[in-house]
Amino acid sequence: MKWNVSFLAAIILTPILLIGFQNCGFNSPEINITDQASTSTQSLSFKEGCETKIMAKYQNLFATTYHPFLSDTCKRCHTSGPGSGLFAFPDPSIAGPHFISRFEKINQNAVNSRHANEIADLIKQRGQIQQEAFIQNLRSQWTTINTEYVKCADVPAPGEGVITIEKSNPAILASMNNPATWTPIEWNLMTDLKDTTLRNKISATIQIEIRVARYNGTIWGYEFRNPSAKINMPSAPPLNLKTLRLYINKQYQSNVTTYALLDKIVSSDTYLNLAPGSALGLAVIPTTLVNTDTFSLEIASISDATGVSIEPTPVVVPPPSTLPATVTYDQLISNDLNLGVFKNACSRCHNATSLGGGFDITNPLVAKAMAQKIFLRTRDADNPMPQSGLMTPFSQDIIRIWVDGGAK
Ligand code: HEC
Ligand code: HEC
Repeated sequence: MKWNVSFLAAIILTPILLIGFQNCGFNSPEINITDQASTSTQSLSFKEGCETKIMAKYQNLFATTYHPFLSDTCKRCHTSGPGSGLFAFPDPSIAGPHFISRFEKINQNAVNSRHANEIADLIKQRGQIQQEAFIQNLRSQWTTINTEYVKCADVPAPGEGVITIEKSNPAILASMNNPATWTPIEWNLMTDLKDTTLRNKISATIQIEIRVARYNGTIWGYEFRNPSAKINMPSAPPLNLKTLRLYINKQYQSNVTTYALLDKIVSSDTYLNLAPGSALGLAVIPTTLVNTDTFSLEIASISDATGVSIEPTPVVVPPPSTLPATVTYDQLISNDLNLGVFKNACSRCHNATSLGGGFDITNPLVAKAMAQKIFLRTRDADNPMPQSGLMTPFSQDIIRIWVDGGAK
């Protein structure tokens, strides 16, 4: 395996909410290559030079920071077995792609003394806080390069794109024991869009195949493959679709970044596979899977083939690039993409009908009384909230600022 754009795709989207979008100042044209196999034009949307420059920075940072640590501390189990992933392999160019595709989990396990004796020993030597600071420092160097990357590639933020309605299909769970069976879910963009003002404008249909993700008998969540699109009739205009994102039960799956760099022209009324042969998208779902689990897709941008956006630009609040001075409960429970942490990350398990941990975070009195516990659990890597793993440092800080300000 070598480093390439699809591996890079695994990490670029996570920190996007923290980043303002500007052009990177390069005036050179976009690189356009023709994909002979599918006879479609694939625009990579990179300003010339950015991609290579940034890829070199990623490789260098990995080789000089994360890799020396991982290839030492994790070598017993992550160079072949019994752990998964070769990210501790002595050669950084082999370890690198394994690292990128597990970036979040590696950062979490690296501070988790329960994961392996080697980590426990190191933490005993250094101290938990020091180890967390060490990893946090590496992570922020990585994020800095991500920022540069996003400035170079023109990727709109999650929530800004065209989002389909939620759909579910009981066939996905029904075929759980048969890994060869994938269940497609299809959305006609004329009707199946969340934003009603965008309906009847985009004459195309999109689908993705889904199955239950099962490894060694354990159910992890859902897997995705073969996102495909077609125009609804031969006379409909060709469309350029960029960046596909997945939502499960209305939650943006920031870890599924397999299709982050997708960029295709769709000009036929038979399905075009938008990501042929690319890695499966895996969404880890910590709760029991149910037939009513819903799926929806977001296409970050849809334009006609000449590049003119055919949908009205959705109204979006630009993401703040710096932390606010104060945070209120009302903000935490709002739909705000950045500040609405309780709403976005907690309320589906902690509400009046689903009392995870016995409390309702949508009740302001209850939430304020729980402020200290909330603060601790959102920073406890061994016992994280949400259960799927620690949130981004930005979201954790939003909660800290609320607690520091007296949890008002
Ligand atoms: C003593 C063996 C051992 C050591 C040392 C070890 N791990 Fe693991 N690791 C495992 C095993 C076994 C698994 C698979 C089961 C699991 O997920 O817990 C695993 C899984 C993982 C995964 C999930 C892999 C995936 O494909 O999703 C990550 C990430 C990880 N380890 C990170 C680390 C890091 C980082 C270190 C070093 C700082 C480390 N591990 C050291 C045994 C080890
Ligand atoms: C997928 C469901 C789920 C999500 C999402 C989730 N929680 Fe929880 N939470 C639980 C469950 C179940 C428990 C009880 C088991 C436990 O403590 O781990 C719990 C327990 C807790 C507790 C401990 C309660 C106590 O009395 O000790 C706190 C605090 C908490 N959650 C806060 C949060 C916050 C804050 C978020 C969002 C950032 C969040 N949770 C997201 C399911 C969830």
